[in-house]
Amino acid sequence: MPEHNADLVILGGGSGGYACALRAAELGKSVVLIERDKLGGTCLHYGCIPTKALLHAAEVADSAREGDKVGVKSSLSGIDMAGVNSYKDGVIAKLYKGLQGLVKSRKITLVEGTGKFVGPNTVVVGDDTYVGEKVVLATGSYSKSIPGLDIGGRVITSSEAIRLDEVPQRVVVLGGGVIGVEFASVFKSFGAEVTIVEALPRLVPNEDEFASKLLERAFRRRKIAFKTGVKFTGAKQTDDAVTVSLESGEEIEADYLLVAVGRGPNTANSGFEEAGVTMERGFVLTDERLRTNLPNVYAVGDIVPGLQLAHRGFAQGIFIAEDIAGLNPPVIDEAGIPRVTYCEPEVASVGLTEAQAKEKYGEIQTLTYDLAGNGKSQILQTQGAIKLIKTGAEGTPGPVVGLHMVGARVGELIGEAQLVYNWDAQAEDVAALIHAHPTQNEAFGEAHLALAGKPLHSHS
Ligand code: NAI
Repeated sequence: MPEHNADLVILGGGSGGYACALRAAELGKSVVLIERDKLGGTCLHYGCIPTKALLHAAEVADSAREGDKVGVKSSLSGIDMAGVNSYKDGVIAKLYKGLQGLVKSRKITLVEGTGKFVGPNTVVVGDDTYVGEKVVLATGSYSKSIPGLDIGGRVITSSEAIRLDEVPQRVVVLGGGVIGVEFASVFKSFGAEVTIVEALPRLVPNEDEFASKLLERAFRRRKIAFKTGVKFTGAKQTDDAVTVSLESGEEIEADYLLVAVGRGPNTANSGFEEAGVTMERGFVLTDERLRTNLPNVYAVGDIVPGLQLAHRGFAQGIFIAEDIAGLNPPVIDEAGIPRVTYCEPEVASVGLTEAQAKEKYGEIQTLTYDLAGNGKSQILQTQGAIKLIKTGAEGTPGPVVGLHMVGARVGELIGEAQLVYNWDAQAEDVAALIHAHPTQNEAFGEAHLALAGKPLHSHS
């Protein structure tokens, strides 16, 4: 068996794995990066990038359909899925090429193949053995289903939904989490009839209740149907349709059932467990410095319990590379990782929800600023609001520990929101900063003015 040695052997070339590889190479380490599919992983090829391209096409469709609202004569004559897919694939191809170039230019050895971790510091790919002074497990995640519900035919996950060659007329979406509401939004904008079935009492149940309420209101206006607090009991498909059954006895017929009930860790057949890695429900357990129980073996990204987000993977990958290089980077605060759901309207948040803040700090103060008072939001004709949560009673100092936003394009405001949270800013600090007029960002400044006790464009 040919043996290859490197400072770092990374198993998985998705967001977490390749970010770690790039940073480690930058720090002078020799790196082997093993990938069985395509460099860039789920985010680039099957997740973030393709879905956001679909959402952009959806936004263009809405603009064409609704031009009349602003006096522009336009109409939507149809969605050409071949055209949508070629636009989407073009975006992916360009980014993919750029990423391949980056990896090459940093002299990272990219190994194409399925790796198996055999411990202690070794990954096997076919007949080759890769031994790293350090090993990083970065195998990512897959779309889960629920017991008894097999994916195939008209029962699909996001992996199939990103490459449909037709616009379905009717879709049932199982799961009202991030993937569920994003695809519901796309399908509706493309002209389908959509019904979301969510087991918990509200859409986007991981968000602050405020966000769920506003999103539900907006979805009602958009005529996206949703059933919350409902138990799914099964689905039957024929060549022409799929029938979804609920515990209430109700049946819904559709062209497709999109299953969006979460993503599971890609760790089966990876050798982790046999090699002695401590695992829980398929996830790899690490300490806060992303070290597994085995010496010199780290884990990164979706296989580590927590938020399954590409930018968390990037941050963790960079963290590990710097830690290995002795730079002693500070531990990542999970609550400080920004979260954006790109449906229409968007939902964006960072920090704690009201319930979490109450539990952690006891007394808190909240403030909600309605986008009705914001010029740019009115120009865009969007509704929504910004909710801030600070510690302590009204009038007392305390950092802003939760920021939640709903409205068209509010995802673009998350950059400032995450600075506020991660730099422990107080309302007065942000209120003193000047926000450009007329931007939606200005609403963010106004919310902090109001929380600091000096509201400008807001009705108390
Ligand atoms: P999720 O955990 O966000 O949502 C799954 C939803 O399905 C939950 O609300 C859950 O209550 C519901 N559910 C589970 N079993 C059910 C059942 N039997 N019947 C009805 N509802 C059921 O997971 P999702 O949406 O699949 O996304 C997977 C991961 O990918 C998430 O961690 C998400 O953060 C990430 N992602 C992030 C995006 C972003 O940042 N914009 C976009 C897409 C995915």
